[in-house]
Amino acid sequence: MAHDPIGIIMNGVSGRMGYRQHLLRSVLAIRAEGGVQLSDGTRVQVEPILVGRSESKLADIAKKHDIADWTTDLDAALSDPRWTVYGDFQITGARVPAIRRAIAAGKAVYTEKPTAGTLEEALELAALAKAAGVKNGVVHDKLYLPGLRKLARLVESGFFGRVLSIRGEFGYWVFEGDWQAAQRPSWNYRSEDGGGIVADMFPHWNYVLENLFGPVEAVYARAVTHIPERSDEQGQAYAATADDAAYAVFELAGGVVAQLNSSWAVRVNRKELVEFQVDGTHGSAVAGLFGCRAQHRTGTPKPVWNPDLAETHDYFDDWAEVPDNDVYANGFREQWEQFLRHVAEDAPYTFDLLAGARGVRLAEAGLESSRTGRRIELPSLTAGDDA
Ligand SMILES: NC(=O)c1ccc[n+]([C@@H]2O[C@H](COP(=O)([O-])OP(=O)(O)OC[C@H]3O[C@@H](n4cnc5c(N)ncnc54)[C@H](O)[C@@H]3O)[C@@H](O)[C@H]2O)c1
Repeated sequence: MAHDPIGIIMNGVSGRMGYRQHLLRSVLAIRAEGGVQLSDGTRVQVEPILVGRSESKLADIAKKHDIADWTTDLDAALSDPRWTVYGDFQITGARVPAIRRAIAAGKAVYTEKPTAGTLEEALELAALAKAAGVKNGVVHDKLYLPGLRKLARLVESGFFGRVLSIRGEFGYWVFEGDWQAAQRPSWNYRSEDGGGIVADMFPHWNYVLENLFGPVEAVYARAVTHIPERSDEQGQAYAATADDAAYAVFELAGGVVAQLNSSWAVRVNRKELVEFQVDGTHGSAVAGLFGCRAQHRTGTPKPVWNPDLAETHDYFDDWAEVPDNDVYANGFREQWEQFLRHVAEDAPYTFDLLAGARGVRLAEAGLESSRTGRRIELPSLTAGDDA
């Protein structure tokens, strides 16, 4: 059976995520393969229209990648029935008004996280989408990383016994921009533009914890701005008003405690830029982006604390690499394909705007905890809830 192509409005496509992960690695890669394969074996093709603020940037990208359609007029694209999906990869601060318009135009919505700057707005988007009956999805890319998929395999196999705790380290040094150019956009360091490591990373931590170990029921966090002044893309000094590190404890259903450090002011001394150690009664594992190492209770050494003797045991040798046993495609693309199947043939899809709102809520609660010094409880949430 021949299908009409799915027309995708791609807004914010000149940015880091919009260009590389969503356009090149996902939508154009899918297009080059003839579209997304559906459950009956047929394929539905995708066609993007690029949307942004700069005509010249859009024209350059369109020309380079053989894309026929681009515009700086979002409303024109939204009013054209040829485009049925709206994708948003803009800076966080520009997202909510654009998604509101896309929902009002009846488009299916697929967006980067965080879905909004506040829980109130995030819930509003989830409720609007529900009321309009439009399909919606939010990027949950970390769940598709090979390291985390191997970790999920260990969880599902019962390897850990009872999971006790999770300890995670995320971060690396982001240059200040004066003596070496910063490797992240400057808006990330201004809270007025939707920046901050809590707003950026807690939505990720929420879905990682929720999907692998259980919902987050409470948070205590300390967010700080270690580097108060940075230099922007033009070399101009600016006040870094957003947090660049957060030290947090998350309490999960069932008594599991997760302790995660997130920092753009830390130097890497671990195998990967993010690592999670999971300890359970029967085994432990350390997962990164790609790798995952495990230690079963039967292979656990018995250290004895002795400050008089220099350490001779190599504790890293006690861990075994979890094999790939699978081929891992780009996670952004895999998630796009799942969402497009949801659009084309109503395949199940759970990572929706309400899931995105739970991530925004964790960020908001983390910042509130940091401001007040209090532990914040998080009751379960539905799309009809007020913030
Ligand atoms: N899933 C992930 O792992 C991940 C990683 C990084 C960023 N993100 C998210 O992706 C989004 C984009 O981040 P990025 O790092 O690609 O940022 P970026 O600065 O590289 O790109 C932002 C895009 O938004 C556009 N833009 C900038 N200012 C705008 C404005 N005022 N109004 C409208 N559009 C504007 C830019 O032209 C650009 O196309 C953010 O919401 C961020 O939280 C997700």
